[in-house]
Amino acid sequence: MCIRHLGFVLLFWFPAELHGQSETRSCAAPVLVHGLFTPKQDIYPHGAKLTYTCNNGHKPADQGWWVMSTCNNGLWSPPPQCIDESSCVQPDDVPNTIYSPSPTGWYENGTKIRVKCNKGYETKNNLLTGTCKDGAWRSMPVCEKSADSCSEPPQLPHAVIINQTHQEVFAVDSEVMYQCEDGYTTEQGESMKSVTCISGNWTEGPTCRSSSSSGSSVSTVPTVPISNCGRHPIVQNAVVVQSDLMSLKYRCYTFYSLEGPEIVKCYSNGMWSDKPTCKVAYCVLNTKGHDVLKDVGRKYIKNGETVEMECQKLKFYWVTTHKAEVQCNDGEIQLGSCCSSTDAVFTNCE
Ligand SMILES: *[C@@H]1O[C@H](CO)[C@@H](O)[C@H](O)[C@H]1NC(C)=O
Ligand SMILES: *[C@@H]1O[C@H](CO)[C@@H](O)[C@H](O)[C@H]1NC(C)=O
Ligand SMILES: *[C@@H]1O[C@H](CO)[C@@H](O)[C@H](O)[C@H]1NC(C)=O
Repeated sequence: MCIRHLGFVLLFWFPAELHGQSETRSCAAPVLVHGLFTPKQDIYPHGAKLTYTCNNGHKPADQGWWVMSTCNNGLWSPPPQCIDESSCVQPDDVPNTIYSPSPTGWYENGTKIRVKCNKGYETKNNLLTGTCKDGAWRSMPVCEKSADSCSEPPQLPHAVIINQTHQEVFAVDSEVMYQCEDGYTTEQGESMKSVTCISGNWTEGPTCRSSSSSGSSVSTVPTVPISNCGRHPIVQNAVVVQSDLMSLKYRCYTFYSLEGPEIVKCYSNGMWSDKPTCKVAYCVLNTKGHDVLKDVGRKYIKNGETVEMECQKLKFYWVTTHKAEVQCNDGEIQLGSCCSSTDAVFTNCE
């Protein structure tokens, strides 16, 4: 009894001690050309933070004009560096794209990067490269779900999917396996059935029936307090905005629209009811692709929204700024004509 106790204590004490020794290297002050940082010290302990900014004509190699860096076991993370203003930092996270990150963390003016779409996604217009020009990314590809990919396979009564990976989109030909709850079997009397993604739809999943009673015992499972179902189901790009005894309410992030039930409940068999999905609901306007517009890079517009964009000076006699209305309809950009902004209502259009 006594020895077993001692072993227990040693097991916990030993790794903690090793851990403590291996991760405490301090950092020297960074060498920052074209910038300044604070606080200034000779040595910074592990975990210490500093912030830095860059001189005119330069910018941090990260988003924002000031950046916090942390001493992590002898190295600054992210490494403080000031780059030329015409260089680009890592592109904003574009959903579902993959590109190989630059080893330095930034890209010189003129650099092209090749972007790939995640499995199951494809680019619109087959655009595959983005270009760094004068400090901004131009013509960055947009990856969208391919028409022949499938969304999450449906949640079916008395069945779970035994695959570990949780994804929003499954490429064509993906296969996942449903397993019936204990005591339930498929129509064929099996405990498992696989479904395959074929041109955008899943093949039919199992109907799991109680193996003792042969009657239909499905649809009317009573709901119980949500604490019986354990962890809240994860809905990609959504948050739980309301949670009470019997239900959860989900809301999608801005730029996503909700499909399916907003309210999720817990069945007495410990399964959650169907959960919603959040679909991308925005357009990316790339002014580079529209000669009439002044090039200001990329702009995200929500479905149904209209924004005004400044036009290039197309006619020599234009004395005032002309603007065009740009609307996003179901992911498609609609560009109006360029109108003079002197009138309150846009009558002076060309
Ligand atoms: C960036 O590169 C483009 C051509 O790729 C060039 O026209 C432009 O002048 C460069 N900008 C700077 C600030 O060097
Ligand atoms: C799911 O699991 C089945 C059986 O283990 C396997 O054949 C299938 O490839 C898996 N599917 C995915 C998408 O990982
Ligand atoms: C996939 O499902 C949709 C909606 O249920 C249907 O309109 C479409 O025809 C189906 N496609 C195939 C290939 O079965």
